[in-house]
Amino acid sequence: MVEKSLRPRRLDEYIGQDRVKTNLNIFIQAALARGEPLDHVLFYGPPGLGKTTLAAIVAAEMGVSLRVTSGPAIERQGDLVSILTNLKPGDVLFIDEIHRLNRVVEEVLYPAMEDFAVDIIIGKGPAARTMRINLPKFTLVGATTRLALLTGPLRDRFGAVLRLDFYDHDAMELIIKRSSSILAMPIDEPGARMLAGRARGTPRIANRLLRRVRDVAQVAGEPVVTEVIADRALDLLEIDSLGLDETDRRILVALIDKFDGGPVGVDTLAAATSEETDTIMDVYEPYLLQLGFLQRTPRGRVATRRAYEHLGIPFPADRTNQPSLFLEGE
Ligand code: ADE
Repeated sequence: MVEKSLRPRRLDEYIGQDRVKTNLNIFIQAALARGEPLDHVLFYGPPGLGKTTLAAIVAAEMGVSLRVTSGPAIERQGDLVSILTNLKPGDVLFIDEIHRLNRVVEEVLYPAMEDFAVDIIIGKGPAARTMRINLPKFTLVGATTRLALLTGPLRDRFGAVLRLDFYDHDAMELIIKRSSSILAMPIDEPGARMLAGRARGTPRIANRLLRRVRDVAQVAGEPVVTEVIADRALDLLEIDSLGLDETDRRILVALIDKFDGGPVGVDTLAAATSEETDTIMDVYEPYLLQLGFLQRTPRGRVATRRAYEHLGIPFPADRTNQPSLFLEGE
């Protein structure tokens, strides 16, 4: 990459996610003190919150190498066996989107995680034999945006399952200041505050916005990113006061206009907005839920009064829209 990486490399550089950091730090210190590899760890949460970064930090703190792959990239059992047999003792194997591993491949992981061994079948028919290959002790770090899609047996084999949440405002502001200093693009306090409020609690989005804001400042010949510059850049990107982009708004407007605010099934909503169901569930929905703009009910998604208010659409008088009305049992 031409640009400097904005990812923190060590745990003490990592801002926010204090609960996860505290837990990880204890696991790491304990494993180092025992001279053992770290137990397998699973990170879950919306995209852009730092799952890959944390996997790299785990490897750095343990002083081992990191091997990166992803669920959809591993098509056959043999692909995974070859990755596993090439690990060195203590190495960290990071599998992103681990919920997308196919079941047959996943079965290789069970003995690998539990007994540090893989069983391979040699030959065919009555002459077939299984042969056990021992693996070095390694650490599997898994990441998923959808914990519910993991099978029980896989989930149970992780020693620690850690949830990443959206970052709070203060952490976002610190991350933006840190990134702006790495990018050598000064930003003033109000500028940082404005970006922090419009980056959906997601560092990846903050860093992307920061790069666009830097372009605007550069073209305007401004040496410092101010609130005015940040606001202009965010307007150009059609990002509103809460950080919603055009797609977020389109999803909410479809829900309100086409389905009277719901409830409507997520597949129907996806079709109506020409988005993938998975994209809505992984990328858009978590932040809309967090803002309290969307409710998930057994009968489908419902837009809340807050969503109407934010979009400037009158809330229908006949709609009490008490979330509890739509919950369980209906
Ligand atoms: N850049 C992206 N995420 C970060 C984090 N959590 N802490 C520091 N810098 C970051």
